[in-house]
Amino acid sequence: MLLVSSCLVAALALSVNAQSNATDAGGPADYIVSTNSTDAIEPPDFNVTQALVDMGVNVSALPVDQLVKRSSNFACQLACGSLQFLYGGSKVEYSNDAGYDTFTSGYWSQIQENVNPYCIFKAPDKNAISVVVLLSRLTSCPFAVKSGGHAAFQGASNIEGGITVSLAALNSIQVSSDKKTVAIGPGNTWNSVYTALQPYNIAVIGGRVAPIGVGGLTTGGGISFFSSLYGWACDNVASYDVVLASGAQVTASPTSFPDLYWALRGGGNNFGIVVNFNLNAISLPGGQMWGGDRVYLEDQFPGLAAAFAGVVEDSPNDGNAGQWVAWLESNGTKLAATELYYAQPNGGSAAIWNNYNALTAISDTTQNRVLAAYTQELAQSNPYGLRETYYGLTVKADESLAVLAKDIFYQALPATANVAGANPVLIYQGITLPMIEAMQKNGGNPLGISVSDGPLYLIHVACWWDNASDDATIYAFITNVLNQIKAAATAIGKQNDYIYMNYGGVYEDVIKSYGSTNKAQLKSIAQKYDPQQVFQILQPGYFKLDRAPVVDSSYFSG
Ligand SMILES: Cc1cc2nc3c(=O)[nH]c(=O)nc-3n(C[C@H](O)[C@H](O)[C@H](O)COP(=O)(O)OP(=O)(O)OC[C@H]3O[C@@H](n4cnc5c(N)ncnc54)[C@H](O)[C@@H]3O)c2cc1C
Ligand SMILES: *[C@@H]1O[C@H](CO)[C@@H](O)[C@H](O)[C@H]1NC(C)=O
Ligand SMILES: *[C@@H]1O[C@H](CO)[C@@H](O)[C@H](O)[C@H]1NC(C)=O
Ligand SMILES: *[C@@H]1O[C@H](CO)[C@@H](O)[C@H](O)[C@H]1NC(C)=O
Ligand SMILES: *[C@@H]1O[C@H](CO)[C@@H](O)[C@H](O)[C@H]1NC(C)=O
Ligand SMILES: *[C@@H]1O[C@H](CO)[C@@H](O)[C@H](O)[C@H]1NC(C)=O
Ligand SMILES: *[C@@H]1O[C@H](CO)[C@@H](O)[C@H](O)[C@H]1NC(C)=O
Repeated sequence: MLLVSSCLVAALALSVNAQSNATDAGGPADYIVSTNSTDAIEPPDFNVTQALVDMGVNVSALPVDQLVKRSSNFACQLACGSLQFLYGGSKVEYSNDAGYDTFTSGYWSQIQENVNPYCIFKAPDKNAISVVVLLSRLTSCPFAVKSGGHAAFQGASNIEGGITVSLAALNSIQVSSDKKTVAIGPGNTWNSVYTALQPYNIAVIGGRVAPIGVGGLTTGGGISFFSSLYGWACDNVASYDVVLASGAQVTASPTSFPDLYWALRGGGNNFGIVVNFNLNAISLPGGQMWGGDRVYLEDQFPGLAAAFAGVVEDSPNDGNAGQWVAWLESNGTKLAATELYYAQPNGGSAAIWNNYNALTAISDTTQNRVLAAYTQELAQSNPYGLRETYYGLTVKADESLAVLAKDIFYQALPATANVAGANPVLIYQGITLPMIEAMQKNGGNPLGISVSDGPLYLIHVACWWDNASDDATIYAFITNVLNQIKAAATAIGKQNDYIYMNYGGVYEDVIKSYGSTNKAQLKSIAQKYDPQQVFQILQPGYFKLDRAPVVDSSYFSG
């Protein structure tokens, strides 16, 4: 059946079969294929209605002309009404419900908060994820999926006029009996994960700021405090349980659907909805580590750029260490705020920090830390409710570029002087050699970064500001900064194509940046598991296989 059925469709007197109740765990039946069975591959004559019937949903049909003659709102009215019928009113919020505004205010960025879905579906369990994908197909009502809601731009995890699916109820955290893996639902934030794991003296490779979602961070990459020891989050997933376009639930691992496993290691929301991440556990007694913030004035900047470059370079000698440097201007004073962290207590005297320790900071909060509390503290400097963007690129590691990029940023900064509430920051991080080496394990990932590229610098502009009327000014400023940094890198042979999805801007073509071979491979895997392009067409938001979220050539696209 095509996305818009040619013969019949939709719905929508739906009811569940007599012995079950869709809101219960025993609701629509499991539709699980856990091995290499060809059942996971959607046949050309796949029948969406029949798939729903197979899950125990009683679908009665309407003539299609009734659907196509009406507005797309009618499609979503049918889809949302069906969800309400199946799961009850408490699971479906409309714009006049109090729960609707409570939900949308849970997005970090105001740009996403301002998007108005036709309804919000609070999926009670993983089978409800299968049902909502199939109902979207049956009605052609589009959808978006929210985990932690930290993606900053419109449509990333909230959809105008469609169904926004909340994963919040999929929040289980289960440590395996050998404590080697943890099964984590995508409704969790990293703070809740670390808090739950602390009594076991373990952690997982995840986000560094409390309210970031497990779902978005892990499907896009995932830089953790421990990534120079173990790699990125996406490279420490033992297996993914994922709902495909057909509603089938499969487990992707190095030995089960290995092509899908490869694609999910950084391919974003293009292949399915992950309903469980089985993450490798690491040892972290008591959650104990070391870290904090040091702030420097301009007289220290030359030494600071060198210290940043040195830690990236030295990373193979001490993978415990990690850092970011944020260059900004506060009240007319240029400042650099550096976050330094170490995977063990008392890390401050490690030799890798020698260059930093020789500099003079105006403030210093480095101290022994407990992981979960540390992520809470870092959340305080990232307030909710403002217009926000992250927007970045990658260059090959080179100290001269660390010096130059910040000069380019400060020279361009006056363009934002009249923007109400603007707080532009240029942030450096390292993609260190140990991280790149870990990307190659278990069959590799699709990001297109190889050991021969050497260490890289991830450079992004983060900004918040007050008014939509200033969006164009902000994006033009960022475009100017990124174009100049890219040109400077190209001029000395240090350009690199990779754009990190999790810091990608709304006009950036992230999948293209993975390289033409990997992009073609990702498209062929999507063709195999999602032949009707459900995750491209009916879930139009975020970084799609063939385009930036918003295509506009006047802004930096990569
Ligand atoms: C304050 C702040 C701190 C950050 N810190 C870090 C950091 O330490 N390390 C790092 O690497 N990144 C970091 N990021 C970037 C962060 O990883 C991305 O913003 C990420 O997309 C957030 O994930 P989320 O689940 O909160 O977002 P959401 O907006 O909920 O999701 C982002 C995208 O992922 C999709 N998605 C979510 N869950 C699933 C799923 N289960 N299956 C399929 N698709 C899914 C969504 O549909 C959406 O398209 C930070 C961002 C902010 C704003
Ligand atoms: C799809 O399945 C439904 C329910 O079994 C059935 O009524 C319909 O005829 C099928 N459609 C096609 C095109 O086979
Ligand atoms: C399905 O719904 C229709 C319409 O409400 C009803 O007539 C029929 O009995 C239902 N079938 C089952 C198996 O419950
Ligand atoms: C079915 O779910 C509803 C909530 O929508 C609940 O009130 C009802 O008790 C459930 N029925 C059974 C038989 O469990
Ligand atoms: C799945 O298929 C791949 C090759 O396509 C094979 O290497 C792997 O062993 C299979 N896994 C299972 C569980 O059969
Ligand atoms: C900024 O400068 C003004 C005037 O010099 C001063 O009153 C204000 O407190 C400063 N704000 C901050 C955040 O330092
Ligand atoms: C920005 O918004 C604030 C209120 O949100 C308003 O007072 C101000 O005039 C706006 N500024 C511009 C330039 O639009």
